[in-house]
Amino acid sequence: MSARKPFVAGNWKMNLERKTALGLALAVRDAVGRREDVDVAVFPPFVYLDEVARALAGSRVRCGAQNCSDEPSGAFTGEIAPAMLVDVGATHVIVGHSERRHLYGEGSELVGRKVQLALEHGLSPILCVGETLEERDARRTESVVGEQLARGLAGVDGRALQTRVTLAYEPVWAIGTGRTATPAQAGEVHAYLRGVLAGLYNEPAAENTRILYGGSVKPDNVRALMAVRGVDGVLVGGASLKPETFLPLLEFR
Ligand code: 13P
Repeated sequence: MSARKPFVAGNWKMNLERKTALGLALAVRDAVGRREDVDVAVFPPFVYLDEVARALAGSRVRCGAQNCSDEPSGAFTGEIAPAMLVDVGATHVIVGHSERRHLYGEGSELVGRKVQLALEHGLSPILCVGETLEERDARRTESVVGEQLARGLAGVDGRALQTRVTLAYEPVWAIGTGRTATPAQAGEVHAYLRGVLAGLYNEPAAENTRILYGGSVKPDNVRALMAVRGVDGVLVGGASLKPETFLPLLEFR
């Protein structure tokens, strides 16, 4: 039996405000209800996390942060520690998103330290990997995502991998561009990543680890992407910001 239950995650990025964030969270909570066949999580901006997590308490919808510090506490102006996230009700954290890697210069070693610290504090990390268009055109997709994966998971044991870590393949050229990877392109990279996991750990560990696809996922392409072997869920940006576009993603079958 595979432990890879479908997972639909909404990364709100730097969008919404207190009222719209709360309204969206409640709409997701009500739509998910007691459904057991899918895991759902939302990732509000830090400042709304506390309130959104309270609104979702007792529901099946999880709440996470979009980033965290690689340090447990101290003089790190502007940073948020994993323990603080847990303190306000976060269960998950996105680590290594391409916007962090490319706009804020986060390297794979830093990303790996964040994954480790998040795990130490009881958070479930979603580790993102993905190639730029230039890297894809230069046929470097596999080496880029393989390296991001190996370094991001350095120090993560097989048990933590299978029970706590989710991976997300997010091709940079497909994020916010309206240009989605084709099901075949997503399938190829997901299969490659699972092969890398099998090499780093073993076959069962690779088979039990969820890998999400992210990049311009919308109601009209979610079914085709979710039908791909090896795509275990979706990490959604733009379409996660409104109930009208996010809730239909839960009907991915
Ligand atoms: P879009 O769905 O807006 O392309 O964003 C994807 C993403 O980056 C999710 O983390």
